[in-house]
Amino acid sequence: MEAQLSVGRVAELAGVSVRTLHHYDEIGLVRPSSRTAAGHRAYSAGDVVRLREVLAYRRLGFGLREIADLVDDPATDAVAHLRRLRGLLLDQRDRAAAMVVAIDKELEARAMGISTPPEEQLQAFGARLYDAIGSAYPATRRTEPRIAARIWAALGDARTVLNVGAGTGSYEPPDRDVTAVEPSAVMRAQRPAGAAPCVAAVAGRLPFEDQSFDAAMAVSTVHHWPDPVAGLREMRRVARRVVVLTYDADSTDWRQRFWLVRDYLPEFAELLVGWPSVADMTRAIGGRAEPVPIPWDCADGFFEAYWRRPEAYLDEHVRRAVSVWTRVGQHAERRAVGSLHDDLTSGRWAERNPGLADLDAAELGLRLLVA
Ligand SMILES: C[S@@+](CC[C@H](N)C(=O)[O-])C[C@H]1O[C@@H](n2cnc3c(N)ncnc32)[C@H](O)[C@@H]1O
Repeated sequence: MEAQLSVGRVAELAGVSVRTLHHYDEIGLVRPSSRTAAGHRAYSAGDVVRLREVLAYRRLGFGLREIADLVDDPATDAVAHLRRLRGLLLDQRDRAAAMVVAIDKELEARAMGISTPPEEQLQAFGARLYDAIGSAYPATRRTEPRIAARIWAALGDARTVLNVGAGTGSYEPPDRDVTAVEPSAVMRAQRPAGAAPCVAAVAGRLPFEDQSFDAAMAVSTVHHWPDPVAGLREMRRVARRVVVLTYDADSTDWRQRFWLVRDYLPEFAELLVGWPSVADMTRAIGGRAEPVPIPWDCADGFFEAYWRRPEAYLDEHVRRAVSVWTRVGQHAERRAVGSLHDDLTSGRWAERNPGLADLDAAELGLRLLVA
């Protein structure tokens, strides 16, 4: 017989009150499917699945009526709910990180006797991660010509190109008809004069008809999407060809080889938990993955770009233009930068990483997905 959980045990495990569970039962939101001989509520495995969905949507701030509609939708199964919840929680995490950045800024300003304008205070509440950190982006982030050449070659003879998660417009091919999609107002505002037209939208819901573009591209952005596979399928829907620059989260190989993650910032691995594999991503677009070596003097200052120039990571401008540093939090950042500084000064970094100076490019998990 299927194991049943008493209402008290369910309340204890889920960290909610028995009263809450009674209320959910009374309004028909989560009705335990049976009763014990003594007439007490008993929750089956199926009841627990539904309750978990209800509690997760509740924690995300959904109202009970809205939740009832969501969990009663016959078109959404348990896996679809888990995927949606995961995406919403990641989005919430990023928004919380954005607010921490805004609060830190205000605290700093207050300490110097500067008051933050009311508009700015309010903006922090609705901020997406890139609304908070985006103004630091152009300092070190730009098109790396050797990587651009790979992307542009993969676009083939595409004339019309959609650039999803376009940011400030790096890697947009100059000789094609480009349309950009970018959700962050701060990033859109930093697109240079004359850049391709940019639509405020997200990858998960591209506001275009099926097959509207010859090709869709996405560079260094998929890891920010709440549901990467859904976004990739959207790209596939709106374009005949898809080109994506991302990284392989599965392989521990390059993480072990990249000294920054291995010796100073192991927290990076936590950011990759639950990240779809390259196989999942290529399946979503129906394509293949090619490794992209990172040149030693890479012009685009993404996270791994300075693998042969370790001093660069001591520079605040370099770090502020890479979301990883905000996502791992100030504590991990300070510790990592402090240890790196010490090891560079003592010569320990050089001892631990012999031979890097002889390499022109490094394979650090960067992948070009082409379909
Ligand atoms: C690291 S930047 C890359 C920008 C640009 N593609 C480049 O290579 O410089 C990541 C961008 O993804 C955008 N982004 C975040 N969530 C997104 C989503 N759900 N859909 C589309 N873009 C998103 C961010 O606002 C940010 O501009």
